[in-house]
Amino acid sequence: MGSGTAMVFATSSQLWGNTHTVLASKLSTFDKTAPSTEAFWETVRSQFRFAKGLTYFNNGSLGACPTPIREATNTFRAVLDDFPSKYMWGGWDDEKEVVREKVASLFSVSPEEIALIHNTTEGMNLIARSMNLNKGDEILLADHEHASAVAPWTVWQASKGIQLIRPTLPILPKSVEEIVAIYRKAITPRTKVLSICHLVNTNGMLLPIKALSKMAQEEGILVAVDGAQAAGMFHTDLRDIGCDFYTVSAHKWLFSPKGVGIFYAKKASQSKLKPLMVARGYEDSSIRRLENYNTRNLPEVLALGAALDYRETIGAQKIHDRTFALKHYFRDKVGTNPKLVLKTPELDTLSAGIQVVEVVGKEVVDVKNRLFNEYGIDCRPMTKFGLNAVRLSFAIFITKKQIDDLVHALETIANS
Ligand SMILES: Cc1ncc(COP(=O)(O)O)c(C=O)c1O
Repeated sequence: MGSGTAMVFATSSQLWGNTHTVLASKLSTFDKTAPSTEAFWETVRSQFRFAKGLTYFNNGSLGACPTPIREATNTFRAVLDDFPSKYMWGGWDDEKEVVREKVASLFSVSPEEIALIHNTTEGMNLIARSMNLNKGDEILLADHEHASAVAPWTVWQASKGIQLIRPTLPILPKSVEEIVAIYRKAITPRTKVLSICHLVNTNGMLLPIKALSKMAQEEGILVAVDGAQAAGMFHTDLRDIGCDFYTVSAHKWLFSPKGVGIFYAKKASQSKLKPLMVARGYEDSSIRRLENYNTRNLPEVLALGAALDYRETIGAQKIHDRTFALKHYFRDKVGTNPKLVLKTPELDTLSAGIQVVEVVGKEVVDVKNRLFNEYGIDCRPMTKFGLNAVRLSFAIFITKKQIDDLVHALETIANS
C-alpha cells in the first residue's frame, strides 16, 4: 500500500451548511416580522450590485443576482473545481434533492413533480417535442405568446400537419372573463394543448391560467404554462392552478444564477413526456429523467437553493405585496398625464410587476435610448401590437425613489 496523502474536503452536508451560514449572516439585516418600510427595501436594494450609474428596470429581460447568491454560487464553483469528479456525478445528489424540495415548496407541489432544467425555452421544447399529435390536431397559442413557446410547436409538430390556432388578445382587457371568453371561443374538438403564458412579456398582461386550466381540462385539453415572467414575481400555487405543465426561468424573478430553470409536470401527466436528451441513467422513471444531461452546471443549480433561501429570508408574502405596491405607486405617479399612456391592464387580476407606457408622439426606441443615455435607466422597448411603449419591470431591488426619478425622466422626455 502506498503512503497516500490524507485529503481534506468538506462533506456534502458541511458544505451546504457552511454556505447557508454565510448566507444567513449576510441576510441578518432583514427582520421578517418588521413592516415593509422603504428602509427595508433600501436594504434589499443594497444587496444587488449594478454597474455604476445604472438603474435597472429591465428584470423582465434578465434578472439580477444579489451578492449573497453570487457568493454562494462562487463557493459551489470553488468546491467543485477543488475535486471535480467527486461532485459532478453523485457527490451532490443530496443537495440537488434539497433544491428540488425548496422549489416544490415554493409552488406547493411535490418534489416528484419538479425537474431542474436550464430555462423556460427548454421546458416548452420538452413539452412540444413529447406530444404524439396527428394531422388536424390543434394547439391553442394566443398572439402574445413568446417565441420560446411558438417556435417549439412550429418546428417539432408542424410537419405532422397540426394547426397553431392564434387567437387575438386585447391589449387592455377590462375583466378576466373577457379573456376566458376569447379562449373558450377558440377551443374546438380538435384542440389538444393550450399553451399559455402566465404573464405575457409584451405588455405585462396577466392571463387567468387557473380559470383557463379548468375550462381546458374539462374538454380533455392539456395545459402548458410559460411561467418565465411570473414565477417569483408573486405567489404561485400550482396545485391550485391545476395546469399540467409549468416552465420557469429562475434567472428572471427568482434572481438565481443564469441558465437555471424549473419544470413542473403534474404527476398524472408525466407519462406524456419524453426527455429532450438521454444519457446514462435514462431508465429512471421519475421526473429526474427530464433533467439528466450528464455533465451539468451544478453550482448554479445549487445556488437556486440559496436564491430560494434568500427569498424566504426577505419573506415571500412581502415580495408578493411589494410587487403590487410598486405597480400602484408607478401607475399613480403616471396618473392622468395625457402624454404618458399606460398600455398594461389596470386590475391586479390582469397585471403585476411589469408595466408598459407610451410617451405620446415619440418613437419608443428614441425614448429607450434617451432614458439610458440621459438617466442611466435600462428598460425594454416594445413595438409589437402597436405598443410603441417602454416595458418597465418592478423587481424587489427597485425603490420608490427610483420610480419618482423614472417618472420625472419620462415627463421630461414627453415635454421636450
Ligand atoms: C414569456 C417568456 N417566455 C420565455 C422566455 C424565454 O426565457 P429563457 O431564455 O430563459 O428560456 C422569455 C424571456 O424573456 C419570456 O419573457
